[in-house]
Amino acid sequence: MNEKQLAAERSVDFIKDGMTVGLGTGSTVNYMIDALAQKVKKGLKIKTVATSKLTFQLAASSGIDVVDLELVDRIDLTIDGADEVDPQLNGIKGGGAALLYEKIVASNSAKNIWIVDSSKLVKKLGRFPLPVEVIPYGSNLLISKFEKKKFKPAFRKFEGNNFITDGGHFLIDLNLEKIDDPKGFEEELKTYPGVVEVGLFAGIADMVIVGEGKEIRIIDRMDRPAKK
Ligand code: A5P
Repeated sequence: MNEKQLAAERSVDFIKDGMTVGLGTGSTVNYMIDALAQKVKKGLKIKTVATSKLTFQLAASSGIDVVDLELVDRIDLTIDGADEVDPQLNGIKGGGAALLYEKIVASNSAKNIWIVDSSKLVKKLGRFPLPVEVIPYGSNLLISKFEKKKFKPAFRKFEGNNFITDGGHFLIDLNLEKIDDPKGFEEELKTYPGVVEVGLFAGIADMVIVGEGKEIRIIDRMDRPAKK
């Protein structure tokens, strides 16, 4: 079993009967959906919401009850992957292009668990290109502004064209190398008109389950020192 799968399989132990569960997006989450589908087949009664079309399709076709976000009044727990996680459990997400819906679901969840392989743990965020979701209108001008700020922006491409997210937006990836103040930088990026969401998830994860070799490690926010 690989590290992603180990973390994913452990995470479903936190899902209990009667819960409404947010399902993230990505290859690690896909393992989690497989494990969850097994539990549902054995009788686990849950409702879920999906953070992407891909997750919706996989979960629904695996026999998991997936409902529209508009039909739930609470989300008890969301399980998602991440591209980078720092020691304060801040993260970069959106490598799989689902950051907007992931952030909406995460910020409406009572608890958030991230499942990652050990390569995702970093001392400082920023080596992974930071995804910024933008509306198409005026996006070339945003690229110019980001270039002037030396954020090294690039449109995410798919088959030669700008990638289009589930929400109908473009993605601009910023090649920053390091981000000193994740929350502050997220706030700064959101001041640019046209920016819809930023793939910085600061202070959102309550717990991170890490697959490390053949073991898993659970990092709980409650055990982390607050950042000065
Ligand atoms: C999706 O938009 C992302 O936030 C994913 O959660 C992240 O890219 C992790 O993906 P993997 O589980 O495929 O590594």
